Amino acid sequence: MRRYHVTTFGCQMNVHDSERIKGMLEGAGLGEAPDRDAADVLVFNTCTIREKADDRLVQHLHDARGRKERDPDLQVVVAGCWAESQREAIFREFPWVDAAVGPGRIGSLADAMRAEGDERGAFGSFDDFAADLPRRRERDFQAWLQLSMGCNSVCSYCIVPSVRGRERSRHPREVLAEARQLAAEGVTEIMLLGQNVNSYGRDLSPDERCTFAEMLRAVDAIDGISRIRFMSPHPKDMRGDVIAAMAESDAVCNQLHLPLQSGSTRVLKRMRRTYDQGRYLDLVARLRDAMPDIALTTDVIVGFPGESDADFEDTLDVYEQVGFDHAFTFIYSPRRGTEAAAFEDQVADEVKHERLERLVDVVQRHAAARNAALVGTTQEVLSEGPSRTDPGVFRGKTRGNKTALFTPAAPAGSVVSMVVEESTSQTLRGRILSPVVA
Ligand code: 5AD
Ligand code: SF4
Repeated sequence: MRRYHVTTFGCQMNVHDSERIKGMLEGAGLGEAPDRDAADVLVFNTCTIREKADDRLVQHLHDARGRKERDPDLQVVVAGCWAESQREAIFREFPWVDAAVGPGRIGSLADAMRAEGDERGAFGSFDDFAADLPRRRERDFQAWLQLSMGCNSVCSYCIVPSVRGRERSRHPREVLAEARQLAAEGVTEIMLLGQNVNSYGRDLSPDERCTFAEMLRAVDAIDGISRIRFMSPHPKDMRGDVIAAMAESDAVCNQLHLPLQSGSTRVLKRMRRTYDQGRYLDLVARLRDAMPDIALTTDVIVGFPGESDADFEDTLDVYEQVGFDHAFTFIYSPRRGTEAAAFEDQVADEVKHERLERLVDVVQRHAAARNAALVGTTQEVLSEGPSRTDPGVFRGKTRGNKTALFTPAAPAGSVVSMVVEESTSQTLRGRILSPVVA
């Protein structure tokens, strides 16, 4: 039996697409190899959000070429956003690549692998949802549920709209049928996915329209689903109805990833984010009003073109005011074809790195403080089984999406109450009181 290995880069949408890729390859009679070295088919599901993602992938492709020279039967397959962005050049510049599919054409992967010539590439045509593809879930009790694909925003730094296409919402009937099916299979936690998840439904015709807030309530109403999260919302679409639906739906977790990108109104404007510092802070206040214990995480970019010292201070200031639970921090990376890549006031690398360092210190300080404030509280934890480093210690996630390490053991998928005894900026540690649900 030929064996495949999938390496996944990038966001959760890609993780979800990789589940479909694995399901499809298994449907085609392949088995999974434990690592790349043991595989006959190497699949890279790629990201192109920052230059670093591209560089890493190119390195992997060169390694794959080395292996292919020794083993000509090896198949090298590239899927995802980088593949889409390289659609014109990929077979010319990387002639050892056997097949390539963009994120809108995951369903064509098996055909592309059997094809010759140009047919080995499948790109564009972002119209099929691949919803009916087989998939292989990593965990029985957690699932991704895709609400939409593509993005209609025009953030000036971002390459995603050009590789994932315009936003298309799935029909609510189809989404809810999948949610019910997942619940029937024993899934208790659902992650709703979309590049701009909370603008869900806007493109549907009026007679079938369902807003994101209505979708949250509808998934909440499904028996057996006890945790709902979603990625990634845009602050511009976090309206009152969404906040109310979050607060009033028991299954929706007290956690939100709310990308800030910059705290400077001037920079936000050039990023085309459509909100300013004041509106973002006001949104946070309304969220905390409705859900006082909500855990907030964010994305921040430093060194966007034209970002002055004062702009960066605004970002630090907003960060301090909000006191986020955690953040992903990024150095601005010019992406081909994006508006901001053509801006002439690019920030020097040295300045970017200095700012990142300062920001990371602030992020760590708040993360440690927010977690320390939970010491002594009792948190509901969904167990994910033994921890990676110590089989005697179990790990899981709180409703606030914090990593929890605990003893004694509780099987993966069970829900327990944990008293938090210690914390770091990354984890909470504690003892479980009693299994809530066995
Ligand atoms: N440079 C740096 N960071 C970027 N992001 C998106 N595009 C870029 C870029 N060109 C970040 C944003 C986004 C996250 C997924 O990646 O913060 O929210
Ligand atoms: Fe990367 Fe964006 Fe594509 Fe996700 S959608 S894989 S973050 S480029």
